[in-house]
Amino acid sequence: MGDPQNPQDSSDLSATAVNVGIGTLDEATLRGSVSNKWNKFGPDVAPAWVADMDFSIAPCISSVLREYADRGFYGYPVPTLIDDVKGAFATWWQTRFGLSIDPSQSIVLTEVVQAIHAVVSAFTQPNDGVLVLTPIYPPFLGVLEQQSRRLVEYRMILHDSKYRFDVESLRALIKKERPKILLLCNPHNPVGRVFTIEELRQLGELAVEFDMLILSDEIHADLVFSPHRHVPIATLGEDIARRTFVTSAVSKSFNLAGLRCAMLSFGSPELKDRFDAVFTPHTLGIPSVAGLLASLSAWTHGGDWLRSCVDQLRANRDLVMTRLTQQLPEVGCASIEGTYLAWLDFSAYSYDGFENIAERIRSEAKVALNEGPTFGTGLESYARLNIATSPERLVAMVDQLATALQVNR
Ligand SMILES: Cc1ncc(COP(=O)(O)O)c(C=O)c1O
Repeated sequence: MGDPQNPQDSSDLSATAVNVGIGTLDEATLRGSVSNKWNKFGPDVAPAWVADMDFSIAPCISSVLREYADRGFYGYPVPTLIDDVKGAFATWWQTRFGLSIDPSQSIVLTEVVQAIHAVVSAFTQPNDGVLVLTPIYPPFLGVLEQQSRRLVEYRMILHDSKYRFDVESLRALIKKERPKILLLCNPHNPVGRVFTIEELRQLGELAVEFDMLILSDEIHADLVFSPHRHVPIATLGEDIARRTFVTSAVSKSFNLAGLRCAMLSFGSPELKDRFDAVFTPHTLGIPSVAGLLASLSAWTHGGDWLRSCVDQLRANRDLVMTRLTQQLPEVGCASIEGTYLAWLDFSAYSYDGFENIAERIRSEAKVALNEGPTFGTGLESYARLNIATSPERLVAMVDQLATALQVNR
């Protein structure tokens, strides 16, 4: 196993190791469930799109949920349950990432995307600029469109298999467009970056210099492969912390998206007061008891399971990179430092007759990927592959891609 002193570390697996012991649900169970990932397309299509994992959940969580279901009481919970969840969240973040969160300066909500919408709504006005580093998880763009905010887009540059920003051109963009807030995604979906301290410091300093708020979506914080380490931007100094909102949840790392529970923490009482003045009690609602119980269990007892999960994802990452290099050397894959998402560049292949390459792949390879253009304009040749499945399914999907794409049109 990895370094037990390091809560973020995972085992050092060789590229050939594939199944390290995390349970994977069988296809009949997945297709028979209400899963959108598994049911949106036909039974002949292998789904590698929505960010759900095909793994079974941590035993500590399934036992809590089973106990809750069996007891047969589904009434209102004691208010202390919410306090306990906030406390567990604060402890988890302090222990693993060194971020001090005051539970009284955090709230529970039902989803991270809700937190993004609420913060954008409370702290910006229509037509205010909002800075986003693209390609980006589609709801970051959707919120701006839906709330009529002005997208200030910085397109990251691929260098040495990593998407990065150039601080001077970013600074020039901010100076010109004067965005009110930066919507940061770290670790970054879809490009798999885990931003370094230096990069985060540069972003934080730009925020201070140009008086931008920062909303930091850290939902993938637990899914990071050593030697990379997740650093919350709010740990990089008081000036940065007090303008930062951190939002996260157990939905990605513990595969519980359907239970709907998320956290939003405020970097200063002033930010929380401003938020509370807009969203008075009950406007946003609270998560279900099942979501609260599962989050509490994950953040209290989930560390060991998470370690195995990250081990499996690392093995999958190594496997997929090796297979792609062998079978589809012309496909570019950004190195995956964190998350379970591979951002693939199919520019070498045509998508004539289709809107984008993911459409062609779905039709011809029978593999459903996320379509590039949903992550930013002009990304028709790109697609996102979800690698959180069994190694066997992953291999089969790459084989299907290779067979279909051999016929370049
Ligand atoms: C970066 C990021 N934020 C938010 C979400 C969605 O979280 P939620 O379902 O809690 O809104 C996802 C889901 O994939 C994500 O990747």
